[in-house]
Parts: sequence; C-alpha cells; structure tokens
Amino acid sequence: MTKIKKAVFPVAGLGSRFLPATKAQPKEMLPVVDKPLIQYAVEEAVEAGITEMVFITGRNKRAIEDHFDTAYELESELESAGKHALLELVQNVIPKNINCIYIRQPAALGLGHAVLCARPVIGDEPFAVLLADDLMDPDPGFPSVIAQMTRRYQEEGASIIAVQEVPREFTNQYGIVSGSPYKDRLDKMFGIVEKPAPQDAPSTLAVAGRYILSGKIFSYLEKLGKGSGGEIQLTDGIAALLKDEDVYAYRCAATRYDCGSKLGYLKATVALGLKHADVGEEFARYLQTLKIN
Ligand code: G1P
Repeated sequence: MTKIKKAVFPVAGLGSRFLPATKAQPKEMLPVVDKPLIQYAVEEAVEAGITEMVFITGRNKRAIEDHFDTAYELESELESAGKHALLELVQNVIPKNINCIYIRQPAALGLGHAVLCARPVIGDEPFAVLLADDLMDPDPGFPSVIAQMTRRYQEEGASIIAVQEVPREFTNQYGIVSGSPYKDRLDKMFGIVEKPAPQDAPSTLAVAGRYILSGKIFSYLEKLGKGSGGEIQLTDGIAALLKDEDVYAYRCAATRYDCGSKLGYLKATVALGLKHADVGEEFARYLQTLKIN
C-alpha cells in the first residue's frame, strides 16, 4: 500500500468568527496554551510519519511561514543571552527532516478549491488533509487522529474521512455522511452532504476536519461548481469520488475542539491547560477556587 507522505493544510480562510483577534494575524496562529493551532496540526501529521507539509495560504498568512522557518535574530539573541532551553524550543518547532511547501490560493473560493490548489505537489498519490481549527485531542492510548487514519488506510487502501456524532440541531455546521457499519470504527460511506438542515440530514455523523483522500479526488474537484454557501466544497468532491471508489467514514478516537469558534477555543484552552506539564497542576487548583454559578 502507498505510504501517506504528504499532508495538505488549507489555511487561507479569513477567520471571521474570531474578529477582531484575526484582523491582522492568521486564525491558525492563535495559541492554545503555548503553541499555535497550526503547530498542533503539523505535529499530528509528523506523528503519522508524514514528511511533506503543503500549506494552502493566502494574503496575510506570512506568520505561518515564519513560524516554521529559522528565526535568525531571535535565535542569536537567545544564544547570546544563554537561554538554551528556549533556543532549543524555537529551533525544534518542526523536525529537520520535514519539508514545508507553500502554495497561494489566490481567491477564497472554498475548501474544495483550496485542496485542488495542492494538485501540482500531490500528483495522483493518496494524501492527508488537516483543518487546523479542528484541534483533535486523541483518547488515552490512541495516537494522533491522522496517525489512526493512516493506519486504517494501510489496511483498507481507500479514502477515509474522520467523523464524530453531533446533536441533530448542529448538522447545518458540518459535512454529514451516510453509510453502513463495516468493521471496528469504520462505516462504508454511500453519501455525504455539506451542512444539511437538521430535518434533511441523512444522519448525525459529522465530518471532523481530517481526511485521507485518493489522488483521484482532484479530477472531481476540478469539475465542481459552487455548492453550499456559494463555495467549491470538498464534500461535493468526496460525494462524486464515492460513486467510483470505496470511501470509509472513521469514528475517530478523540475529543474535537472547534477552535474556529470562541467557545470551542476556550474549551480547548482549559482541557489542554489542565494537561500541560508546566502549568497543569496549578491551573487545576486555580479552577477549583472559582465560584461559578
Ligand atoms: C468544513 C467542511 C465540513 C466539515 C468541517 C469540520 O466546514 O466543509 O464538511 O464538517 O469543516 O470542521 P467549515 O467548518 O470550514 O465551514
């Protein structure tokens, strides 16, 4: 089976749900405790053995490129101040064997269009897609969600979409899949629809921002017109793909935090703050002192 070596990170979105914080900085650079969202997603891909990180960027996203690059001035300041631990932290944001590739999406035409922009780098290989504002915290004993999925890909050799149950009143915020049970945590998909109204949703299984896709997806994406919200939707490309190839929905073992929303971001900050090696214990003690009515 082809090994998954490349991951696509669509990061051109405006982050309008998070204004004014995202007026002059990319939403993917918002920190949860001490790391920006995009770094969590890249670390997830690194854990899955992925070595080529393809960022689909847009205007005002330069901070992402700088984050994964050398920071000469900062590094020499830290060096001469003898701050070796911090220097190491800054130099190891990304392992040395990882390549970062940046492609500009010239207009915000939708997630399907963003993924299509990666075609010249991906070719016809299978690849991963990670939406960084979905922060995925794996369940105890499980590796990162994309590592869970690349393992399943090795067994099935077919596209795999991460899903989670959501309350029916929220189906209009997600891609919603329909399928039938296949094996442990996997459903064979027969349909997928973007943001259906609760009364029209075929199920309550929602796409959770992680995908392993067959390279064939590009030939469907390039033919798509505008879909839900007037955008070229990745969901519509997957709907076309699954008429020709097997596609599986994977019930991932993780808690998902929607860090594109204020509430999801706050929940992620509390959950990851409590687990953090430096501040976790003290933060827990602090939370216990709060009087919340
Ligand atoms: C995108 C996808 C949607 C998916 C969601 C997960 O929507 O289009 O199918 O369920 O991410 O976060 P967005 O949140 O960008 O509107």
